[in-house]
Amino acid sequence: MENVKYSKVSGIATYLPEKVLTNDDLSKMVDTSNEWIVTRTGIEQRHIASDDEYTYDLAYKSAIKSLEQENLSAKSVDCIIVATTTPADKCPSTATKVQSMLGATNAFAFDIQAACSGFVYGLSIADSFIKTGKARNILLIGSETMSKVTDWSDRSTCVLFGDGAGSCIVSSTTNDEHKIIDTKLYSDGERYDQIVIHNSLKNGGMGHMTMKGAEVFKSAIRCMSDSMLDILRNNSMSIDDVNWIVPHQANARIIKSLCELNGYPLDKTIISLQKHANTSSATIPLAIDYGMQNGKIKKGDMLLITAMGAGLTWGSALVRL
Ligand code: UT7
Repeated sequence: MENVKYSKVSGIATYLPEKVLTNDDLSKMVDTSNEWIVTRTGIEQRHIASDDEYTYDLAYKSAIKSLEQENLSAKSVDCIIVATTTPADKCPSTATKVQSMLGATNAFAFDIQAACSGFVYGLSIADSFIKTGKARNILLIGSETMSKVTDWSDRSTCVLFGDGAGSCIVSSTTNDEHKIIDTKLYSDGERYDQIVIHNSLKNGGMGHMTMKGAEVFKSAIRCMSDSMLDILRNNSMSIDDVNWIVPHQANARIIKSLCELNGYPLDKTIISLQKHANTSSATIPLAIDYGMQNGKIKKGDMLLITAMGAGLTWGSALVRL
C-alpha cells in the first residue's frame, strides 16, 4: 500500500424530507409566534420526516448523492460512519442499515453518538482512519430525525429543531492541496444535564428532549469560540487564512455572538438555520452544501468548522476543500 499522507473531503451532499413546517404552522400548535422564533433564533422553517421515514432513510438518500458526485461505487466504500442521536433502532447501528441499503458489502460500519458535534467527531475519526491506512474511502454521514424525539407541546424546544441528513466522502490522497488540515475534539461530562434525550430504558417510554436553553446558549459560544481559537493557534493560522466559518446551526444569535467575541466578520460565516433549523449532527454538511449552492463556498476554500452539542461535546476542524 502506498504511503498515504492526507485525507480529503469531497462529494458533499444532503437530503431534506419533503414536508416543511413553518413558524406560522408551529404557532397553531403551541403558544409561540413567527416573530418570537425569528427574533430569538433566526429560524424560519424546518423539514420534518414523515411517520414512516427514519434516520437511515435520510442518510441513505444523502449517501447515494455523495457516491454519484464522486463517481464511486458502493462496493468501493470501505467504511461507513453515521453520526446520529436519533437512530430508528437502538441496535444495530444506523450505519449497518445504510450499508445494506447501499450494498456497500466491502465496508465496516458503525455509528457515533456525539450529538450536534457528531459530524466534527466523524471527520476526526475518518481522518485518523485514512492517515493510519485503516480505510481509503469513508462515507461519513450526519443524519437526524429530531422531530421523533421532540416534545411537540414544549415551545421552548419544539421550535428549534428539524430533520435532515448530509454526507461526504473522506478519502486518501497524496495531493496536499485539498485535505483535512486538523481536527480537535473536546467534551465535558460535568454538563451532561444541559441537554438530554431521555432514554426509554430509564423512563419507560419513548424519551423526549429537555434542554437548559440559557446555559446551553452560553456554553455554545464559549466552547466553539475556544476551540476555534485553539485550532487556528495550533496550526499557526489566523482568521484571515480562512475563507468560510461553518458553525453548528442552532441559533443565529449564538453565531453572531461567536463572531462579535472574536472580531470575526459575520459575512465570512455560513448561516443556513433559517431554512433547516437545528438538525444536530447534520447541520455542518447542510450548511456547507447551502454555502456551495449559494455560490459562496468553492473548491479550494479553507473552511473553519465548529460545533457543540449535548454531552457536552464540541470541536473544530480546518478543511481545505
Ligand atoms: O445544538 C445545541 C443545542 N441547542 C442550542 O444551542 C440552543 C441554545 N439555546 C438557545 O438557543 C436559547 O436559549 C433559546 C432559543 C432556547 C431560548 O431563547 P432565550 O432568549 O434564552 O429565551 P428564554 O429561554 O430566556 O425565554 C424568554 C421568554 C420566556 O418567557 P418569560 O419567562 O420571559 O415570560 C419563555 O417562556 O420566552 C419564552 N419562550 C417563548 N415564547 C414564545 C420560550 N420559548 C418560546 C417560544 N415562543 N417558542
